[in-house]
Amino acid sequence: MSVIRKPWVRPVFTSHRTGTNKFGMARQRFWRSDIDGVAVEDLVAEHGSPLFVISERRLRDNVRRLLRSFRTRYPRVRYGWSYKTNYLNAVCATLHQEGAWAEVVSDFEYDKARALGVPGSHIIFNGPYKPRPALEKAAREGALIHLDNLDELFVLEDVARQVGKVVPCALRLNFDTGYAEPWSRFGFNVESGAAHDAARRIAAAGVLKLTGLHSHIGTFVLDPRAYAAQIKVMAQFMDFAERETGAAIDYLDIGGGFASRNALQGVYLPTDQAVTSIDQYAETITQAMAEAVRGRKNWPWLVLESGRAVVDDAGSLITSVVGSKRLPDSRKALILDAGVNLMFTAYWYNHECQPTRAIDGIAEETVLYGPLCMNIDVMRSSVWLPPMGPGDRLVFNPVGAYNNTQWQEFIQYRPAIVMVQESGTVSEIRRRDTLATMLEPERLPAALATPFPDGLPE
Ligand SMILES: Cc1ncc(COP(=O)(O)O)c(C=O)c1O
Repeated sequence: MSVIRKPWVRPVFTSHRTGTNKFGMARQRFWRSDIDGVAVEDLVAEHGSPLFVISERRLRDNVRRLLRSFRTRYPRVRYGWSYKTNYLNAVCATLHQEGAWAEVVSDFEYDKARALGVPGSHIIFNGPYKPRPALEKAAREGALIHLDNLDELFVLEDVARQVGKVVPCALRLNFDTGYAEPWSRFGFNVESGAAHDAARRIAAAGVLKLTGLHSHIGTFVLDPRAYAAQIKVMAQFMDFAERETGAAIDYLDIGGGFASRNALQGVYLPTDQAVTSIDQYAETITQAMAEAVRGRKNWPWLVLESGRAVVDDAGSLITSVVGSKRLPDSRKALILDAGVNLMFTAYWYNHECQPTRAIDGIAEETVLYGPLCMNIDVMRSSVWLPPMGPGDRLVFNPVGAYNNTQWQEFIQYRPAIVMVQESGTVSEIRRRDTLATMLEPERLPAALATPFPDGLPE
């Protein structure tokens, strides 16, 4: 008679820790061996590890869901893709194909949108610093310029006289919605009357025309009622500007801020329960819009600039375990080949991370470190993972928002980024750093060309 033995599993001792709860003890149950049907191992074999992977299908699905949700509830909805969230050309081009305008916050982003073929007329130009040449270009090309401060307003007046045309512009407003901490450093304050003065000044200048109002109340805004409060203030300001300055407001731009399906640190509930759905935002926002436009002949466009909610879960980071150790306090630690220089958002999210195969053994609390020789390089300070060691891989998701724009060239070569296209084709959309690409911007004075002119030091 043959005896079926269970495989031996290495015993694990874990010290009891207080502070965990019914969610905190949940073990990693899922593993993920492919991204949109392409095996993680094949991706790594072809493009190396670590590797960022963008899902074209998810990106398109997300923006379509957003637009459908709003456009079925309010007839005039426009969407501006927030370049700073992820300005990889392939990402921006995908969203432009879905009808997105470009929402840019710097000269560089403006030029990037133009280089991609976006006409000035479809660029929303935000941000606290727009150098004069950038304002001139934007004014000539008919971009929607959102003014941040009085000095900028004066420069734009001057630019308008120089280019010899009446330049349309919008005011960025800030105010207290009663929900999120006001971002009062951007734009003109409503409560103090600064915004009203700016609207009067625009009217008096004779060369500018106020056609829009903008505000961005914050990011990862979980309570949709904050947007209803925002729209109420913006609508009151619209009434004022039209009544007292003769402006004709064509759009209310409510900025971005919808939560992505990510786990914000410090939030108790699991992501599925904590995160507001796009339909919930749309329902509350469009009801507030309906209230705001009641009795008006012309309904203003509702402009959305949602960033993270559209791109975050379309991005994954494949990383490999390169070492493991036991910390003095008994916790397991893994060293990965990707660190916070690549995944900047590790500072405020507990990103989900999944092994790429089923792994037997008892899950235990694990710390994930990156490869940087820096104490702050912690990808997850506590995650329950099965026993893993060198050669195993983890897939982090969602990582599509703010990482590819805020990553740093620091110590390591930055990895390639690929897009899994809807067709199943995998395209490299950004090449890996090489010594040549990293050294390209540097110049070495001739006198320093030889490192040891007097021979090697002892
Ligand atoms: C003006 C503006 N619009 C849109 C966004 C996108 O925000 P989010 O990614 O939270 O949707 C930002 C981000 O800070 C912003 O500053």
